Amino acid sequence: MSDSPTVFVLNGPNLNLLGTREPEIYGHDTLDDIAGRLEDQARDLGLTIDMRQSNHEGHLVDWLQEANATGAKAVILNAGAFTHTSIALHDAIKAVAVPVIEVHLSNPHTREAFRHRSYVGMAAKGTIAGFGALGYSLALDAASKL
Ligand code: DQA
Repeated sequence: MSDSPTVFVLNGPNLNLLGTREPEIYGHDTLDDIAGRLEDQARDLGLTIDMRQSNHEGHLVDWLQEANATGAKAVILNAGAFTHTSIALHDAIKAVAVPVIEVHLSNPHTREAFRHRSYVGMAAKGTIAGFGALGYSLALDAASKL
């Protein structure tokens, strides 16, 4: 186990399909590609990342609570479509002290109207969207400076 501060990187539904899922919107990188780059970046920043993905809303709630309980430095959260539906995630973010950085590969505000409301963003410390996989890296940089 490393003693360096941990940043949880939580990914919601369908993000396990990155690389093949609508690549014209989400790019060609897989979640493993992103995780590999984040691990290198985290090492340079003196951080450890704990990268997870689930298609189940409750797992994301549990992991937010776990990040807080274990003293994580920050949570980077791409909640996928739960972003636009989940009051449970909104409440979980409000319930914990750990700062949450919302990330999206695409820019939901340029897409369908149902993506314009973010229950995650209404509770998060900040949001990075529209920069593809680079957004995760920008979020980790931000997390390191909190
Ligand atoms: C997403 C945007 C969401 O609207 C969508 O449901 C996703 C991915 C993004 O990273 O661009 O699953 O969170």
